[in-house]
Amino acid sequence: MTTIGLIGAGNIGSTVARLAVDAGHDVVLSNSRGPETLADLVADLGPRARAATREEAAEAADLAVVTVPLKALGDLPAGPLAGKVVMDTINYYPDRDGHVAALDDESTTTSEMVQARLADSHVVKAFNNIYFEHLAALARPAGAPDRATLAIAGDDPDAKTRVAAFLDDIGYDAYDYGALAEGWRTQRDTAAYAALYVDGDDWSHPVPADADRVRRHLEASRRYRDM
Ligand SMILES: NC(=O)c1ccc[n+]([C@@H]2O[C@H](COP(=O)([O-])OP(=O)(O)OC[C@H]3O[C@@H](n4cnc5c(N)ncnc54)[C@H](OP(=O)(O)O)[C@@H]3O)[C@@H](O)[C@H]2O)c1
Repeated sequence: MTTIGLIGAGNIGSTVARLAVDAGHDVVLSNSRGPETLADLVADLGPRARAATREEAAEAADLAVVTVPLKALGDLPAGPLAGKVVMDTINYYPDRDGHVAALDDESTTTSEMVQARLADSHVVKAFNNIYFEHLAALARPAGAPDRATLAIAGDDPDAKTRVAAFLDDIGYDAYDYGALAEGWRTQRDTAAYAALYVDGDDWSHPVPADADRVRRHLEASRRYRDM
């Protein structure tokens, strides 16, 4: 059994926590306002879940998830996450996060910024390009004909293997699209962003994208400057 430590427990964090609990993992959740504000979510998730500070969640983690707004980057607990595999769901929304010049000019990517902040961790970009309700709805057991594939990127092959095994546990295949520097391929508004799991405008029936569909959408992604 693995303990998943989550920094952030909102839409995506709570969805990953639910999938992890359902797969038999323990989860430790944290947010910005303190563990007591997560009591209802913890009660809903059941005995495998508990709430803690973000530092405690990081310390408890065998595998960590950072799932906060980009503007919270400076609050990520780098010390207790050192040496650990960290899944990063963060996207850049300038209206929400404020403008970041290096993202606006595409000289870096969000996950490279997370890796720089968590210099001693092994960051894997995951879950950033699927709407949280679709993430909940598309999970399937291994071998199911309609099992979906999630794209992952990272600089450490062993960390990606670890994340792929976790995705398998919670109901997904994994498609490795390379290094963190390739993360622009799944950034906001690209072909491989959340619409990858949508057919046209119908967000009520998500599409269980297989590896081939994921690959084609990743290949069709364009840099903002080329759009
Ligand atoms: N929504 C989606 O479908 C989706 C899909 C893929 C990726 N993403 C990306 O994943 C990230 C999270 O998205 P979300 O929709 O889950 O956001 P959300 O529902 O607003 O949840 C954000 C979580 O981050 C916590 N948080 C904020 N600042 C923090 C800090 N300084 N320290 C610790 N925790 C902090 C919040 O806690 P408090 O409530 O206590 O402030 C909350 O639990 C974003 O970067 C988003 O772009 C979202």
